[in-house]
Amino acid sequence: MRDETADNLPGLGDPEETRRQFLTKLGFGACAVTGLGAALTVADFLEPKVLFEPPTSFRAGNVTDFPEGTVRFNEEQKVYIIGGAAGIFAMSAVCTHLGCITRPSGEGGIACPCHGSKFDLEGNVTHGPAPHPLPWFEVKADATGNLIVDTSVVIPHGKALKA
Ligand code: FES
Repeated sequence: MRDETADNLPGLGDPEETRRQFLTKLGFGACAVTGLGAALTVADFLEPKVLFEPPTSFRAGNVTDFPEGTVRFNEEQKVYIIGGAAGIFAMSAVCTHLGCITRPSGEGGIACPCHGSKFDLEGNVTHGPAPHPLPWFEVKADATGNLIVDTSVVIPHGKALKA
């Protein structure tokens, strides 16, 4: 009589060999998954992590565009460029309370629409809740008087560019 148990079915060969082949394939599969994960991690590490932020320097016109009393709001940069008695200066338009964008008020100063803070034209707080004055940024002029404002450089109040 013919023995047809699972271990001796025709066409399956030696059951021990089948188990060995299965474990070998399982091992290769685990190594492949691990290798792929490592390769993806290395590829992710090699990819540059760059934040594309707008440039901090921008052109702001010419010295002659800012006679005393001129207040211009650069909406894109959120900066005021002001021709003051002591010279030209650039000042942040971002409220020091919670970061709303201020606007020139009809009262000759600057006002925040969010919680009512007010500033004079040099950025000093005249009405809270803003805790600090508006910061000033560095302004430089080239040989022909073209102005460059750098919002990454905060300067002390009062250091206006002499026109
Ligand atoms: S954000 Fe300007 S007063 Fe609050």
